[in-house]
Order: sequence, then structure tokens, then C-alpha cells
Amino acid sequence: MSRVGIIGWPVSHSRSPLIHNHWLAAHNIKAHYERCPIDPAADFRAALNGLAADGFIGANVTIPHKENAFAAMDSVDAAAQKLGAVNTITFRDGALHGSNTDGAGFVAGLKAALADKGAEGHDWAAHPALVLGAGGAARAIIVALHEAGVPQIRLVNRTKERADALQGLSSRLSVGAWAARAELAAECQLLVNTTSLGMQGAAALDMPLDHMPQTALVSDIVYTPLETDLLVRARAAGLVTVDGLGMLLHQAALAFETWFGVRPPVSDELRHLVVDDLRMKSVEDD
Ligand code: ATR
Repeated sequence: MSRVGIIGWPVSHSRSPLIHNHWLAAHNIKAHYERCPIDPAADFRAALNGLAADGFIGANVTIPHKENAFAAMDSVDAAAQKLGAVNTITFRDGALHGSNTDGAGFVAGLKAALADKGAEGHDWAAHPALVLGAGGAARAIIVALHEAGVPQIRLVNRTKERADALQGLSSRLSVGAWAARAELAAECQLLVNTTSLGMQGAAALDMPLDHMPQTALVSDIVYTPLETDLLVRARAAGLVTVDGLGMLLHQAALAFETWFGVRPPVSDELRHLVVDDLRMKSVEDD
């Protein structure tokens, strides 16, 4: 029995075991996906060597370890190199290989959501996009939007210096003022919220949508709640909405493919499993 898992601190709330064990069972693969808490005070590389010695063939990495993981790798793929962050580790022949599926997962999730809505022909990638927030998720999404061909990536963040620091990620990135976010959405066929605003327990995101074209997509990477206030307002305004589960599920599918050589389907059944789990958790949290 091979082992795979999710490295983070804490990892008790992670949905990755639910998602990956669903696919392992569906593909009849003899492996188990586990939670692997690693204390930030521990020697990270030594902890990874311990996992490899214990039969792990791969692991996902989440907060706060994505940059530690990058630093501990023997080799990395292009996305990880660009981001300086690793979310997927493969233990191979005594060496550690790192990749990053977050950005590709975002775009795959976006495309799948559009296909579901019968809107696969939407030409969002041919128009400017507006990204809110400048954390790790924003970095991955900016690189993925650049690779998808988006001609102008507008970025705003409450703390502008953090956005300015991301200039090197794309030659098509322009940083604007947080206060100008409503106006900067004009001509954008895609808005992505990567801030934590709108998350259960956090303040709502104050993002007026009235400058956005009527055909625009509004995407939130927050998935607790699944339908954030931003998405409720976007839907009410007649815009196309994309919730945060897509990125979670599709980055996982790409990691699974890295380890097991098969891209698992992101089915409605799996989506429902995760949605039910999120609902149970939010009842516990209340
Ligand atoms: P990630 O998980 O993407 O790495 P992070 O680094 O915790 O996230 O970033 C959270 C994002 O939410 C940041 O862009 C943060 O803005 P700052 O860089 O100014 O902190 C944003 N954010 C959090 N609370 C906010 C608020 N009240 N108003 C505006 N932005 C906020």
C-alpha cells in the first residue's frame, strides 16, 4: 500500500483526503491519502525524508509550507520555479521533485465551470482581467492567466506594496490602487477575488460590479461559503459566476495525475461529497 498525503499546519480541516481517497477508490489504486501535520518549527527537509522512508510516494503542500517545500526540493517544474512555491511533491528514487498545480487548477476549474453552463466559447482570455489580492493564490493565478494569454492583468491589493512586488510575474501585469478597483473592472471579462474577504467569519468584500461588462465572469476562490456575497451580487447583476470549489478540485486532479499517471474526473458526485462535508463543518463551527 503506497501512501500520499497533505502537508500543512494545521491540516485537520483539509478536504484533500476526502477528494483523493475518493479517486483512489474509484481507480482501484492501492494507496491511501493521509493528513501530515508538520510543525513550522521542525526541520522540514528531515520531515520530508521521514515521509519518504515511511512509504510516501507523494504529498500535497498547503499553508504555511509551500515556500519551505520549494526550498527543500531537488528539482521543480516551471510553475513552481516561477512562483517559488510548491504544492505537489513527488518522492522519486531518493530525490524530491516539486510542482505547482494551483494556477493550472484555477484555469481548469474556470473552463469546467463554463462548460457546465454551456458557455465554453466565452473569450475571457482575450480580454483584460482584474485580480483582487496579492497572496500566494493571487501569484499562482496571475501566472496562469498570463499563460492563458490574457492581454492585460490588472492587480489591486489593500497593501499596494505587496501587489507591486508581484510585477515580475508577468510583463502584462499592471498594479492599480485598491480604491480604484470598481473602475478598473471596466473592459474586464474576468474578475477573480483571491482575498480572504467574504469567507465565513471575515468581512464582506466591498467590490462594486457596475463597471463590468454584462458578459463578464466573476470568480471567487473562497469556498466557505460556496456562494459568497460577491457571487450572489454578480449573479443578481446577470454576470456569470464561478465558485471556489473548481480550483480546489482541479489542482487536486492535476496532483493526482502527477503521482498516478491518470487524470481523475471532477464529477458531480465528488462535488456533492465535498459540498456536504463543507456544510457539516460549517454547522460544527457555528
Ligand atoms: P493567500 O492564501 O492567497 O496566500 P494571504 O497572503 O493571507 O493569502 O492574503 C490574503 C489577501 O486578502 C491579501 O491580499 C490581503 O490583503 P493585504 O495584503 O493588504 O493584507 C487580503 N485582505 C485580507 N483582509 C482584507 C481586508 N480587510 N481588506 C482588503 N484586503 C484584505
